[in-house]
Amino acid sequence: MNAKNLELKTYISEEKLAAKVAEIGKALTEKFKGKKVTAVCVLKGSFMFYSDLIRQIDTDITCEFFGVSSYHGGTTSSGEVKVTLDLSTPIEGQHVVLVEDIVDTGITMNYLKNAIESRKPASLTTVALLEKPDALKVPCKLDHVGFQITNEFVVGYGLDYDGYFRNLPYIAQVQNFQ
Ligand code: IMP
Repeated sequence: MNAKNLELKTYISEEKLAAKVAEIGKALTEKFKGKKVTAVCVLKGSFMFYSDLIRQIDTDITCEFFGVSSYHGGTTSSGEVKVTLDLSTPIEGQHVVLVEDIVDTGITMNYLKNAIESRKPASLTTVALLEKPDALKVPCKLDHVGFQITNEFVVGYGLDYDGYFRNLPYIAQVQNFQ
């Protein structure tokens, strides 16, 4: 069953994802030892990465969700960020870890960083599972990056094409876009 009749090729396996998530989790555990952290999940794409990552961070964590959308169905960013769900509590004075699925043009991450910074957290740590350095349109410095990938469209492990494929347990490259 394949909703879009696309040919998918495994790009990052479940094993490689799990190892990378554990590595980032360990680094964050060391950084925030004995401190409370507010982990912000950027919806929808980072929900799977986020839920695996927070289980690898050994400190007190509260969970927040920030919904944004910049793609309107296709495979290229509109360049316009729309907030679909705001944080439910103030984050002033808190150590915030912002968890994003992928940084493509960098526009969404920049928007999110500004939105969080304007609420005066004690600190902001940015994490992205994937980064496409060749696609960047605005400078975007990240604290933790899982994998740098080439400028191709990928799906799975939370990432979608037209709403589908988020439930794949691995990251796949799409072979046959028309
Ligand atoms: P940016 O604003 O161009 O950096 O885009 C960031 C958002 O676009 C991500 O949070 C994803 O939701 C989406 N996105 C970018 N590249 C891909 C991709 O290869 N597959 C699926 N979604 C992507």
